Amino acid sequence: GHSEDSLTRIRNIEMIELGRHRIQPWYFSPYPQQLTVLPCIYICEFCLKCVSSQTCLKRHMSKCLLKHPPGNEIYRSHPLSFFEIDGRKNKAYAQNLCLLAKLFLDHKTLYYDTDPFLFYVLAERDERGFHIVGYFSKEKESADEYNVACILVLPPYQKMGYGRLLIEFSYELSKIERKTGSPEKPLSDLGLLSYRSFWSQTIIEKLISFKEESLQLGEEKQISVNDLSEITSIRKEDVISTLQHLNLYKYYRGQHVIVITDELKDAYRRMLSKCRTRIDPSKLRWTPKD
Ligand code: ACO
Ligand code: ZN
Repeated sequence: GHSEDSLTRIRNIEMIELGRHRIQPWYFSPYPQQLTVLPCIYICEFCLKCVSSQTCLKRHMSKCLLKHPPGNEIYRSHPLSFFEIDGRKNKAYAQNLCLLAKLFLDHKTLYYDTDPFLFYVLAERDERGFHIVGYFSKEKESADEYNVACILVLPPYQKMGYGRLLIEFSYELSKIERKTGSPEKPLSDLGLLSYRSFWSQTIIEKLISFKEESLQLGEEKQISVNDLSEITSIRKEDVISTLQHLNLYKYYRGQHVIVITDELKDAYRRMLSKCRTRIDPSKLRWTPKD
């Protein structure tokens, strides 16, 4: 979604305190007017309720029973877990999450109506509880076959690979649904960078293992855009744009072909050197609701 309103409005919250983090917001978010005059607002890191002072937060924390996001824990690979939250059943949490996320999302409409969405929250566990790292939202029913509406990693956790992990998770859900998916447009600059990187890595990996397989079998098999899309759940258009971006998609004798070149092997080596946390699909406990 696109909101003209939020584009023209400037940042209205000076600072937030969330768990052990103090974070400076990037953009406008429609928090209650009386909170916008304060030097800092205080957010319960478990239920995401927002209050106006440290004293209020202390009082709240003594009553707040949550030590993790609400909803179902559908993935655990210590210390990381994913929780699935229904925007209709946990409306207050979902609305608070949207308010918090809007502080770092420029171009998204705030969904006051959270009913049509599911929220997948990534949290990191320690002895005090499960601390929110980031999330993505997803329409329960998407006419455009989007598998992510909004995606966010909170600033203290950015550039550490968590964005990639959220994106990977969103495609694992699509695989279980036996659908292809794509993020809702427009993407932010950071969103595009992260998706490009994930798509590239995923496709490079598939092409390399395909190449190795066909070498072992000693036969020249063909792999198509459709195959790649089906294996990865990445929508066809995104597969093509990624192949073009990697310079692996050539027009040859009247048709498009995927060429596996040395460029690909170099990209693969660079990729392997990053060794990031990955989703282990065998730890995902989830079936789509109908
Ligand atoms: N500068 C350059 N490259 C970057 C940057 C940056 N600031 N941030 C991420 N990248 C690249 C990384 O280098 C990495 O690529 P690599 O593996 O090839 O090195 C890739 O993007 C993913 O990096 P992560 O560390 O996994 O990403 P991060 O945890 O920072 O999360 C996210 C990315 C979610 C986009 C985060 O920056 C964010 O929350 N931004 C604010 C909200 C936003 O813009 N969300 C996307 C909106 S679009 C939508 O919602 C559909
Ligand atoms: Zn709370």
